[in-house]
Amino acid sequence: MPEQKISEVLAKPDAALEMTLRPSLFSEFTGQAKVKERLEITVAAAKQRHEAIDHVLLSGPPGLGKTTLAHILAKAMGANLKSTSGPTIEKAGDLAGLLTNLEEGDVLFIDEIHRLQKTIEEYLYPAMEDFKLDIIIDQGPNARSVRLNLPRFTLIGATTRSGLLTAPLLTRFPIRERLDYYQADQLQQIIVRSARLLNVEIEEKGAREIARRSRGTPRISNNLLRRVRDYAQVRHEGRITADIADKALAMLEIDENGLDEMDKRILETVIVKFGGGPVGLSSLSVAVGEEPDTLEEVYEPYLIMEGYLKRTPQGRVATESSYNKLGLKPGGKNQPALL
Ligand SMILES: Nc1ncnc2c1ncn2[C@@H]1O[C@H](COP(=O)(O)OP(=O)(O)OP(=O)(O)O)[C@@H](O)[C@H]1O
Ligand SMILES: [Mg+2]
Repeated sequence: MPEQKISEVLAKPDAALEMTLRPSLFSEFTGQAKVKERLEITVAAAKQRHEAIDHVLLSGPPGLGKTTLAHILAKAMGANLKSTSGPTIEKAGDLAGLLTNLEEGDVLFIDEIHRLQKTIEEYLYPAMEDFKLDIIIDQGPNARSVRLNLPRFTLIGATTRSGLLTAPLLTRFPIRERLDYYQADQLQQIIVRSARLLNVEIEEKGAREIARRSRGTPRISNNLLRRVRDYAQVRHEGRITADIADKALAMLEIDENGLDEMDKRILETVIVKFGGGPVGLSSLSVAVGEEPDTLEEVYEPYLIMEGYLKRTPQGRVATESSYNKLGLKPGGKNQPALL
């Protein structure tokens, strides 16, 4: 088994590292050109009108820059950013506390907004739409509803699962942007920038090698860069070349397409245990020993984008590419190698 699974790298970001490497300006944010252009225009227009920007929903797989963009947006507006997340808002009172402490123009960032409880979501609607908050004070026969005015704030929601958002919440975000996996040349630029910030010597081709194997994800690029740096330091003179990057990544069991052991286990399970599919998410989850949510949010989007897996109404189906990847034959009797 690799020392660190992709899902762990993605789920438990190294907070200190993320702070050091997180770009704070649009000009430092590589890739996502269309999203960036639209958001920059929104900010410029709002500033000319001396208004707060409309509420923004940022969606996309983990590690692609949603939190980063939220911070960039707040900074570009000259606004304070208050940060919270869906699961930590347990009671309506928690939300009321957050909202009533906001000042004019502030940004409230709600991460994992798809995990907000439905009852709390309902308090959010008038707050987002009319900047009003209805709260109930007192209990029993004295209970009454009071309407509070809120400052004009901007809500930025982030989610890895925009499909789980309810329609009423979704439609209250005038700006909705989806981040996509990055191209290798964009990741290469990100790696070169990170290497500069971390004082790591890296050749263009070394950065290229890490970029190609980062699953289109800047967070993975930054993590692999650090692992490769360790290898280069201990086994070589510290400078990262293509060859050293290749050896280090092979040692981490990340293959030439960026797939790790779990990716291959998923593909092999679909093919060997389930005859190529279709197989439902929950059966697959039990068979590979990984949470269904992690399969759906972390592994599948990349495998689907790269053409290894298809999602059909009946379940997941392996494609020809995944047979080729594992050296197995469609329709043949396939013996497990990894299982
Ligand atoms: N476009 C980019 N340019 C440079 N670095 C980036 C870019 N996007 C992300 N990063 C780097 O990747 C790291 C992860 O990004 P971020 O935390 O914003 O992802 P996220 O989409 O919020 O992930 P999650 O869904 O797990 O919360 C950041 O710390 C930053 O260093
Ligand atoms: Mg985030």
